[in-house]
Amino acid sequence: MSVLVTYGSKRGGTKGLAEMVATDLREEGLEVDLVAPNQVKRLDEYEAVVVGGALYAFRWHRAAKQFVKRHTGELRRRPVFFFSSGPLDDSATKKDIPPVKGVQALMERVGARGHITLGGRLSPDAKGFPASAMAKNKAGDWRDPAQVQAWVRSIATIIRTEVPHAI
Ligand SMILES: Cc1cc2nc3c(=O)[nH]c(=O)nc-3n(C[C@H](O)[C@H](O)[C@H](O)COP(=O)(O)O)c2cc1C
Repeated sequence: MSVLVTYGSKRGGTKGLAEMVATDLREEGLEVDLVAPNQVKRLDEYEAVVVGGALYAFRWHRAAKQFVKRHTGELRRRPVFFFSSGPLDDSATKKDIPPVKGVQALMERVGARGHITLGGRLSPDAKGFPASAMAKNKAGDWRDPAQVQAWVRSIATIIRTEVPHAI
């Protein structure tokens, strides 16, 4: 039994969060594959799936969205969890930030069991417009490993309940 963790990430921050999620799930005793979304062919070997997406202008990164659309049928038959990243301040650790409209629709599409918004990261030398302009006063790393771990513990509990032979 294994859990698939995949992500849509433009500048690597969300990929880093997916790596944290994978590591923490392994610490919970689950087997995990961390795979880029375009490398995933079928979900046969996975009994649960975590999909993370970077937020750009209130929309999920295209690769995360397309992954969910491409695998809708298979995702509907497994426990699925989403995370979004993320605010360039500490708001995500202070309050529960609901999914944006498009992500909410994807959750309904596959019957996702849960969602969390996690802080984001923008490097001071981010390239491209408007990222470079934003980086002048918004650069920073707001990803919180403790928050990721707490969320992972909660979803691991659900996975173990829904997939009784998980461990
Ligand atoms: C142009 C631009 C637009 C953004 N829009 C949003 C947004 O709508 N909501 C949000 O929470 N974060 C937003 N962010 C912050 C990013 O989501 C954050 O930098 C995230 O960590 C990026 O992930 P990535 O490094 O995986 O691409 C935006 C960042 C940029 C550069």
